[in-house]
Amino acid sequence: MFARLLRSPSFRSACFVGGVSTLAATSTSYAYADNSSNSNTTGPAAPISRRPGAKTKKGEPVFTRAQVAANDGMSGKPMWMTYRNGVYDVTEFHRIHPGGNLIMQAAGSDVSTFWDVWAYHHHAPKVGAYLEELRIGAVIKEEWEKEREETIEKKEKLQDDPYETEPVRDINVQTIFTERPYCSETPNEVLGSSYLTSSAALYVRNHAPVPDCAWAPGDGSESSRAAYLQQHEVVFDFVAPVEDDESSSESSSERSSEINSEITSESDSTFTVGQLRSRFGTTTITSILQCAGNRAAEDIAATGSSGFSGSPFEDITQGMVGNAQWSGVRLANVLPALYPKICASCKQHGGGEWHVIFEGADGYSASSPLARVLDEQSDCILATHMNGEPLNPDHGYPLRAVLPGLAGARNVKWLQSISIQKKPVDAPWNSYYYKNANAEQIQELPLQSLVLKTSLSSSGNTVAVSGVAYSGGTGNSIARVEVSTNNGETWTEAKIMNEEIEKDGSHKNFGWVRWNVTIDKGESGVKKEVCCRATDAEGKTQAEISPKQRGYLYNGWSKVALE
Ligand code: MTE
Repeated sequence: MFARLLRSPSFRSACFVGGVSTLAATSTSYAYADNSSNSNTTGPAAPISRRPGAKTKKGEPVFTRAQVAANDGMSGKPMWMTYRNGVYDVTEFHRIHPGGNLIMQAAGSDVSTFWDVWAYHHHAPKVGAYLEELRIGAVIKEEWEKEREETIEKKEKLQDDPYETEPVRDINVQTIFTERPYCSETPNEVLGSSYLTSSAALYVRNHAPVPDCAWAPGDGSESSRAAYLQQHEVVFDFVAPVEDDESSSESSSERSSEINSEITSESDSTFTVGQLRSRFGTTTITSILQCAGNRAAEDIAATGSSGFSGSPFEDITQGMVGNAQWSGVRLANVLPALYPKICASCKQHGGGEWHVIFEGADGYSASSPLARVLDEQSDCILATHMNGEPLNPDHGYPLRAVLPGLAGARNVKWLQSISIQKKPVDAPWNSYYYKNANAEQIQELPLQSLVLKTSLSSSGNTVAVSGVAYSGGTGNSIARVEVSTNNGETWTEAKIMNEEIEKDGSHKNFGWVRWNVTIDKGESGVKKEVCCRATDAEGKTQAEISPKQRGYLYNGWSKVALE
């Protein structure tokens, strides 16, 4: 189920994956890649900066590569791996590895190539400390010296860099956190400047290099990208429930064979995007996209340190969010046609135990409850377009899941397969990361409002405040946004700009509203800070500080200092 991609030839051959590579064309002639000489855009990703290894310890055991390879964790053997010249026994650690079974990619071999892809390991503070606790010896000197020379030579020739063809990004409209993988947020002034966030400005949260399928072959023109996305293939799969599943009323093996025969009898299990579009039609909906870690810095300031502390993400402000119009195929149309029995039963009985697994071509996967994805009112789509244009490489070209109101992490990009199974997918982003205080997978986002701009009038008597608000997972409309300049002692209601919401295929209100208000300093006693809170149509209002959710989902009042 893991990555079938991967860009670097050595990574591809080193990769354990049993599956066939589904690499699409490798052209990199996407329109804005030509701008690399422009100082307002990013150039090629900075060279790999690998984590320094530990020094050899006097008298420690030495091992040959063959010995390391023999300890691959299979058939009850220990699981060893190497980093630089160190040999590490990860047999026990592999059970608590935050990245789950992905660690097995490197069993019996060197982990560097994998860390160059999952590059978070090179800059996460804890990784080095954990690793050194597991050291059992060193690679034999002769072998290590030869390898080191080869590595230096590769670096000089810029060979095998998995990040060699990253898109060029406009840094006027994005603030970068990390380049490998690329992660950014949108500055407040850009977010507040339009109702829809442009694809160049929308934050990017990647966990690995942008995969090859994000690049259309040809001249990189709009027309070649529009044409190529029609040909991209998506596999629809069914994962049979395990035999002893108690919640199944029929024998599960009987049921799964029935269901499998329905899948093959009703339709092919592989579709091109073009086939999906012509068979199921397309729609356009408006929704925010927000990373569950947005406002991490405010969360830390209000509730203490979190999993983000000490990492580059501790500085995330409010910009890992944006609002866009997304076009694509409704999952509420696709899934019942491909999985009729499960979907019918889910509609009748709630189907709480079934999940839809979305897998991206970069090896990332996540799942969401079938009941949510199937609900027509939830407006879940397989999106090909953002704001009327094919998705750009960073946002998931040619196809991504857009699950309105659910955490960004569930909106999988570069989709290559979709499956249904009776439990959430066991992937790091489901099993370890993006979980709430109760250790449950985060799905719905909370009610939210953000102050994006404040300006004191030239007389200093009034302050104009504007921002955005959205209801998160409920899709409720926003009933009220209030602003205070005295930390909530008194509130002034803002004007909500409902008039700019475009009528489209949306059933609910998953997009944001913009709002603005001018407050008289004399009346409200302007101090140093302005804050806002929203109330939705069900009467739910944001609290001043929201409870700790492992660093995610912060939705306390948005507070901004006045100059
Ligand atoms: N899908 C894939 N295939 N790979 C990823 O790294 N990141 C997820 C989600 N989907 C991710 C992914 C996360 S954590 C977020 S917040 C959103 O994509 C970000 O989407 P964007 O980069 O288009 O803004």
